[in-house]
Amino acid sequence: MSKRKILVTSALPYANGPIHLGHLVEYIQTDIWTRFQKQRGHQCYYICADDTHGTPIMLKADREGLTPEELIANIEQQHRADFAEFNVSFDNYHSTHSKENKEFSTLIYQRLQQAGHISSRTITQAYDPDKKMFLSDRFIKGECPKCGAQDQYGDGCEVCSATYAPTDLKNAVSAISGAKPIEKESLHYFFDLANFSEMLNEWTKDGHLQSEVANKLAEWLDGGLKQWDISRDAPYFGFEIPDAPGKYFYVWLDAPIGYMASFKNFCEKQALNFDDFWQPETDTELYHFIGKDIIYFHALFWPAMLTGANFRTPSAIFAHGFLTVNGEKMSKSRGTFITARTYLDHLNPEYLRYYFAAKLSNGLDDIDLNFEDFSQRVNSDLVGKVVNIASRCSGFIKKRFDGLLSTSCSEPELFQIFIDANDSIAKLYENREFSKAMREIMALADKANQYIDDKKPWLIAKEEGKEQELHDVCSMGINLFRLLCVYLKPVVPHLVAEAEIFLNIESQGWAVGIKPLVNHPINKFKPLMTRVEPDKIAAIIEASKENLEKVSEPKLKQFEPITDEIEFDDFAKIDLRIAKIIKAEHVKGADKLLQLTVDIGDETRNVFAGIKSAYAPEELEGRYTVVVANLKPRKMRFGLSEGMVLAAGAGGKDLWILSPDEGAVAGMRVK
Ligand code: MSP
Ligand code: ZN
Repeated sequence: MSKRKILVTSALPYANGPIHLGHLVEYIQTDIWTRFQKQRGHQCYYICADDTHGTPIMLKADREGLTPEELIANIEQQHRADFAEFNVSFDNYHSTHSKENKEFSTLIYQRLQQAGHISSRTITQAYDPDKKMFLSDRFIKGECPKCGAQDQYGDGCEVCSATYAPTDLKNAVSAISGAKPIEKESLHYFFDLANFSEMLNEWTKDGHLQSEVANKLAEWLDGGLKQWDISRDAPYFGFEIPDAPGKYFYVWLDAPIGYMASFKNFCEKQALNFDDFWQPETDTELYHFIGKDIIYFHALFWPAMLTGANFRTPSAIFAHGFLTVNGEKMSKSRGTFITARTYLDHLNPEYLRYYFAAKLSNGLDDIDLNFEDFSQRVNSDLVGKVVNIASRCSGFIKKRFDGLLSTSCSEPELFQIFIDANDSIAKLYENREFSKAMREIMALADKANQYIDDKKPWLIAKEEGKEQELHDVCSMGINLFRLLCVYLKPVVPHLVAEAEIFLNIESQGWAVGIKPLVNHPINKFKPLMTRVEPDKIAAIIEASKENLEKVSEPKLKQFEPITDEIEFDDFAKIDLRIAKIIKAEHVKGADKLLQLTVDIGDETRNVFAGIKSAYAPEELEGRYTVVVANLKPRKMRFGLSEGMVLAAGAGGKDLWILSPDEGAVAGMRVK
């Protein structure tokens, strides 16, 4: 086996929030793969960084009274700590706000410019006159021009699915300041992606991508490639574009370049040759692990940028699906938006590493974290099957044989079956078929347990003159346990490191040329892993409900200015009624809405209310509130809405429905 030189990356997490379990699918997947490559003896480097630029980070710093530099420094510390405790072992972790990244971004931009791939033109964009900044679509809110739903973002309506330009929104406001946006012109710079149509047509069909991804890209390529807007106006947290004062690189331009920057930073510390890995002619391998949401950037823009700037392109891009929890999108109100830290406060990180491994394939399917399944898998596989072998055999070795394994291997064929499995397990790891690899390893664990069940050392131990047999059986069990550890090492490195101490052996490579341990002293067995405690899971869910505040979106102003006066007659037209909420339910496919059945006296009404971010349905049932009863019914994507619930607040968790004092009765008119 010749030694490969492999550079591996995971997507760079945004420095505007904590690492959560969804992110960890990717970092754990990549970490398992790189640990496997290293265990096989390859020269493999795992590189990552924080993605620090862009408007959300700038605004978040602003809200917290910090400079962006202070904010990203804090978040980087948190990210590093979370990754370290999950045993995600980067060879280098850097930042896109670094001198290396500025150098490479500038270099790549200038090379693209010299080669004629950059153009500029003036565009018209929404502008916040209060904040004095341009507003991207997601920072404009207003009423849907089609169905009238409130609080919709500039790129489309969540209620009726209409898509439109942000300028079509009615009563549009800046989501940052609440001010009414104006239109303003500005000069923007573009990367001419279409110049790379031919190159991309070839590259995307050339085995660098999973087939589902290649198919998706073929659609995009057939639709024609548009110019990519790579500039943003000040104020922006990022790198200024050379010779373009007040213009900054869009965060997605310098983000992937962050892979190179982090590696450069590593090379300087390690005296490694950067060019070996990034020059067009190279025998080194480069892999990017990413989520399916960012394929466009990695499989189109990135290879084109690299080609245009005369660098190598990736050997492959490995995209994965999204994490759902208990079958649904992670949700703050259900307590399933779980941060890495909250998990670490309660459970062993290697449970999750094993669980993800047991679920991951090399495809783009979403993977579901179901806590019952999670406990069951961990308890039955890791604790029940693997660790159990060691605990069943080690006691006798310690008590009866002074901690020494027997002088020969009594079942060489069985040992050989375990060794021979290495080839197919390695292939599965290599192809990122982790769930299949776990299944094969657990089939071996079943074999080992079967062997012990057949031999029944606990009975042999009671018989006279069977010392040798007892010694052989238990030693055999320990030797099989050791091989399971070899195979599980990429997944549960901490558990295996502890097992290696117990086995009194050096850190193990792959199972090639491994001989049984004979006449070998082992150490006292300590429980290597305990069962998942159900109350810890409940505690995680509970604690995650408290995370709500920290992760909420940019907010509307809490106190909006009072604007135009109305006539008394206008007011009198609004028929406000006390309503009793009889039923409250989630609406499938809607992120913000709850469906309410309200009693307004002589009839019940069906009302969709955008209050899901602040209320769980069970909190609402039985409560009294106030509705606009004579609002013309509106057809929404999910059904007819026959009224409107009144609520106050900035949005997100900060939202309160109005409640009358006790004694109010459904149907009373509010005057
Ligand atoms: N900063 C960009 C990536 C730049 S790479 C040059 C970004 N950051 S992210 O923090 O939003 O996501 C980081 C990675 O985590 C992405 O690959 C993303 O797909 C992945 N995931 C984020 N949420 C996820 C789930 N719920 N499930 C699985 N992966 C998820 O995108
Ligand atoms: Zn709409």
